[in-house]
Amino acid sequence: MKINFNVEEAVNLRSSVRNYDGQIIDTATMNEIQTFIQSIENPFGNKIKYHFINIEEMKESNKLGTYGVIQGAKQFVGLTVRLEPMVLEALGYELEILMLYLASMGIGTCWLGGTFNRKEFAKGVDIKEDELFPVITPLGYAAKKMHFTEVAMRKLIKADQRKGFEQLFFKDNFQNPLTKELAKEMYIPLEMVRLGPSASNKQPWRIVQSKDYVHFFERKDPGYSKAFSYDIQKIDLGIAAAHFDLSVKELGIQGHFVKLRDVEMILPEHVEYVFSWKKGDF
Ligand SMILES: Cc1cc2nc3c(=O)[nH]c(=O)nc-3n(C[C@H](O)[C@H](O)[C@H](O)COP(=O)(O)O)c2cc1C
Repeated sequence: MKINFNVEEAVNLRSSVRNYDGQIIDTATMNEIQTFIQSIENPFGNKIKYHFINIEEMKESNKLGTYGVIQGAKQFVGLTVRLEPMVLEALGYELEILMLYLASMGIGTCWLGGTFNRKEFAKGVDIKEDELFPVITPLGYAAKKMHFTEVAMRKLIKADQRKGFEQLFFKDNFQNPLTKELAKEMYIPLEMVRLGPSASNKQPWRIVQSKDYVHFFERKDPGYSKAFSYDIQKIDLGIAAAHFDLSVKELGIQGHFVKLRDVEMILPEHVEYVFSWKKGDF
């Protein structure tokens, strides 16, 4: 996978686009996008399937729905997976890299895990019986202004706000907040995690930096994950992994993701260990 965009710039540029100008992405650009998708690899080793959906080519396009949340979009990409360990993290990692790449090209996207009519979109997608269809995103060019519902939604979920660095990141244990100074070379990669998108902007990632390890945890929102047949916040953890990984690579810091059997640490309520990143040249 060759990243030919500046990660910090793309992270700052990407923001959910829910109102599109209706313009179709031309074939040459779509081919470039397909080539980029084929090159995406995730560190967890799971297979992610991509499906291109053009709603104008679908017979039942009038029924196809995002409940008015997305307007003016004609092209979508849907992702399907087999439900297996780490697959939601892998999906989060891959689609976020695609979204950053698209943001760097001036193409808008929006993670949709809840506000899309799965049944209707599934008609345009070849899904096997044992597969899950967790998310889609529109692809297109942003309209000049946000639509009314979009403005209201962003306000409701405080989409432009992020939790503070010291609320999310810790040194050695959860009692000890990590400051910018303590984070040293990990400051920028962690800041990239902090700025990431998450379902309903809940920002469930919690990170403990300890020696050569950066441990990633999920702060489960009680009740929220239960609204889905899968833990949607695991996708957010994959997004965090993507921002972190692209950033350390851009800074030339070597390391890789590992899943430890256990982390010896007292965890706050509703917090669960997910994976770690270990510094070093392997
Ligand atoms: C896994 C996931 C699922 C999401 N599902 C929806 C959705 O169903 N509908 C929607 O309008 N936005 C959805 N979002 C977008 C978030 O609300 C958005 O990323 C967050 O509010 C931050 O705003 P930003 O993306 O503009 O930075 C989802 C985001 C993620 C990561």
